[in-house]
Order: sequence, then structure tokens, then C-alpha cells
Amino acid sequence: MRADYGKLNKKVRSIWECCELLNDVVDESDPDLDEPQIQHLLQSAEAIRKDYPDEDWLRLTALIHDLGKVITLPQFGGLPQWATVGDTFPVGCAFDESNVHHKYFLENTDFHNPAYNTKTGIYTEGCGLNNVMMSWGHDDYMYMVAKENGSTLPSAGLFIIRYHSFYPLHTAGEYVHLMNDADKENLKWLHIFK
Ligand SMILES: [Fe+2]
Repeated sequence: MRADYGKLNKKVRSIWECCELLNDVVDESDPDLDEPQIQHLLQSAEAIRKDYPDEDWLRLTALIHDLGKVITLPQFGGLPQWATVGDTFPVGCAFDESNVHHKYFLENTDFHNPAYNTKTGIYTEGCGLNNVMMSWGHDDYMYMVAKENGSTLPSAGLFIIRYHSFYPLHTAGEYVHLMNDADKENLKWLHIFK
């Protein structure tokens, strides 16, 4: 799925067109389903502009961070909800108990594989999140779109886009042993963003 979407060959759409397309997306994991998504994006960007007027990149990040959800639409391949929205988490190491619905990982064969079910698994301490394979979702897709199109957002902006659904990290404070120093700096901005 990641390799397929990494080709970035589904559709060419402007940022604003994608903002409008997001109104057609239903995110079943979102508790605020009543609010049109475009309104959510604009409100997020405006709130951040007020609080951080000197950080123009941060309001742009807020505006575009969820645009990857377009992959649920037929013109972008129509991926199901489970492959698009909800929390994200690393694979290749133990599923931390802070992961939502953790009990269902019991049915995942990785849960029982000794190569994948230790705290560091296939990784090393401090290896950096860039070297960690995350579960697929709209975060990683939008990150690839921004990165491969030469986005000039600072690394903190790209980090926010890529990990804003990584609740076990930014809300539960787990998986920190996989971060490097750059990740730790960027996480401060993700905390501000949330
Ligand atoms: Fe999101």
C-alpha cells in the first residue's frame, strides 16, 4: 500500500482543491463528525496563527495536516477507513499497551513473533523515527506528498504532518526510546500543535 501510494500517481490536485475534497470524507474515528472538515482545517490554522503569529509555517501545517484523508475518496483509490484514519503506531516492535484497542493486537501474528514483540524489536535505541516503519494512514501519505513535491516546510512541520495521529507517542509518551535528538526537538512542536 505504501509503495503503491508512494508513486504519487493517483491525481493532481491543488491544496485548496484538496481542502474542499475533504468535505466529502467521512472520518469514522473523529468524534466531531458534525463539523465540516474544511471548517476544522481553517479553525485550526486560525487558532495557531493567533497563538504563534511569527510561525507562518505552523499555520500552513495546521491547514494541510489532514489532507491525506483524500485517499478514502474513489479518485484517490478509495482506501477503507482502517487504512486511512485512527491512531498510528510503529510495526516491527512490541505494540505498547497505550495503543487504542490494544487487546486486538493479540490477533496480529506480529504480537507472537519474538523478532517483533520486544520493546525495540527490529530497531535500536535512539535510531530515529525516520527509520521506524509506522502503520499506514493519512499522516504518512500527506508526509510523502509534501516531501516528494519539495515542500519547504521546516522539519518540525513535516514531523507534525507525519506523526499527528501517533497518540502513543505524543499523548501517552511511549516509544520515546526510538527517537533521536531531532525527533525530540520536533516533538515539542507536535505537543504545541495538539
Ligand atoms: Fe489527522
